[in-house]
Amino acid sequence: MAAYDLETHNYDVVVVGAGGAGLRATLGMAEQGLRTACVSKVFPTRSHTVAAQGGIAASLGNMGPDNWQWHMYDTVKGSDWLGDIDTIEYVTRHAPAAVYELEHYGVPFSRTEEGKIYQRPFGGMTSEFGEGPPVARTCAAADRTGHAMLHTLYGQSLKQNAEFFIEYFAIDLIMSEDGACTGLIAWKLDDGTLHRFNAKLVVLATGGYGRAYFSCTSAHTCTGDGGGMVARAGLPLEDMEFVQFHPTGIYGPGMLITEGARGEGGYLTNSEGERFMERYAPTYKDLASRDVVSRCMTIEIREGRGVGPLKDHIHLNLMHLPPEVIHERLPGIAESARIFAGVDVTKEPIPVIPTCHYNMGGIPTNYWGEVLNPTKGNPDAVVPGLMAVGEAACASLHGANRLGSNSLIDLVVLGRAASLRAGEVVDREGAVPEGPASEVDRALDRFDALRHANGTVPTAELRLEMQRTMQSDAAVFRTEESLADGVKKMDAIAGKLDDIKVTDRSLIWNSDLMETLELTNLMPNALATINGALARTESRGAHAREDYPERDDKNWRKHTLAFVDVKGKVRLDYRPVHTKPLTPPEQGGIDPKVIAPKARVY
Ligand code: FUM
Repeated sequence: MAAYDLETHNYDVVVVGAGGAGLRATLGMAEQGLRTACVSKVFPTRSHTVAAQGGIAASLGNMGPDNWQWHMYDTVKGSDWLGDIDTIEYVTRHAPAAVYELEHYGVPFSRTEEGKIYQRPFGGMTSEFGEGPPVARTCAAADRTGHAMLHTLYGQSLKQNAEFFIEYFAIDLIMSEDGACTGLIAWKLDDGTLHRFNAKLVVLATGGYGRAYFSCTSAHTCTGDGGGMVARAGLPLEDMEFVQFHPTGIYGPGMLITEGARGEGGYLTNSEGERFMERYAPTYKDLASRDVVSRCMTIEIREGRGVGPLKDHIHLNLMHLPPEVIHERLPGIAESARIFAGVDVTKEPIPVIPTCHYNMGGIPTNYWGEVLNPTKGNPDAVVPGLMAVGEAACASLHGANRLGSNSLIDLVVLGRAASLRAGEVVDREGAVPEGPASEVDRALDRFDALRHANGTVPTAELRLEMQRTMQSDAAVFRTEESLADGVKKMDAIAGKLDDIKVTDRSLIWNSDLMETLELTNLMPNALATINGALARTESRGAHAREDYPERDDKNWRKHTLAFVDVKGKVRLDYRPVHTKPLTPPEQGGIDPKVIAPKARVY
């Protein structure tokens, strides 16, 4: 048994992760007087939400008519009918109030001439239940909306006396014998000490796992740490096969060029200078849902109409936009294009390519953020003491495909919902639980084994092998052949974790060890993704099977659950989609017939 001194901390709630969802949950918990700690491996304002550009969706109707029912319809359709309808209604209904709340907290939104919050069109956001023109629903702070939100939420959390444990890396959850979560073990990166957090409630807000792929818009910190901890606790991951490719990552480095660029009037062209989206999506064109646009770009490239010497990317044109639009609305992407592509957007097109951007799948939850571990009789059974929010979670607002700007609204509406639920379920007077010592030992033994790992495969080498395999075999288009081959390769790659080599044995700022711990988190996420994708013999949302091009609602309108054991073995199960709205039509809810499955065309 590994011997480490542990410093113990007791809280009502411990939130892991300080991005938009983690901070909104932290703020809400602290506002209600719950003793709340937020543990983050990076300084809060460096969390990946800071990179969110285009905006946050809410039917404020500042630029023209809009309402939450249209937003709900678009989200159901965008999800390709895999999203949980109760979650979608909850989020779209509460979205306007959540954005006004952010405004009052101090988020510096861009403004219209009349001083209202500025909104821009985004892909898949329409009017009249998909029959009307695109709607400007995405509230923006220029093209730095996530940055503005994150700084505001951090300031507000400090004001409410939430306590921050910054640059602490969460190693593993502590689970009780009866399956409740009672806390976690963390490693303080700057002094090498180890910490035990006991809590009545743990909230995982650890973000996505974009770094399982070779080219992605995600920060290097997006390593699926929550999913890894959950998998090791024997709990499932949901709908992991649905991985979003953003149409406009900068060709090469992969940095995001916001969909807001097309919202402001930008358009894509192929090597013939053709605005090809007009052919594929005659109504919404470049503002079709992003899974559709990414597939169309990939088809153009495959059919020989890509641009550049290798004909392997596409052009995004902004040259026709008035310079003041670029200056006021898109200053960040003009800078990114200049630095990372050497392009002056007022004179030349930006070279772009679909790039891994977002994970629709994650830790299964209801819309209150409570983690689900379905049992035979109850597909919605809740894990006591454990919640998940944000990209780490699968609530499932986005189903098989997320609409752009629905992520930031997910973070704040569901981060807030989690705190409201915590206010109800956390027993303020009760004792803080102490999990079993054996669980603590298990976490420390794993940590120690990795710290002293003396195999032959360096972490960076194995990570690259995983990233290249995921990039080529679980990409925009998939086939039985590519996926089966990918599963075989990923099994071998995961097996090599037993032969990992860590060279630095120290405990202070040991990035070698931290990256190894992150790799052990990325791996179950990647395995769940590729195995779920192989099993799902249909095309839906971001999961495009060339050998099964149609959506198959009869057999596949269901959520995948992937259990990944510590040896990397994957077992799949399924749970039903929630198909009922929360509010009946006679009380102002959407008519269920309007959101019944149908062909998804833009
Ligand atoms: O294109 C963007 O600005 C990305 C937004 C999003 O992923 O929600």
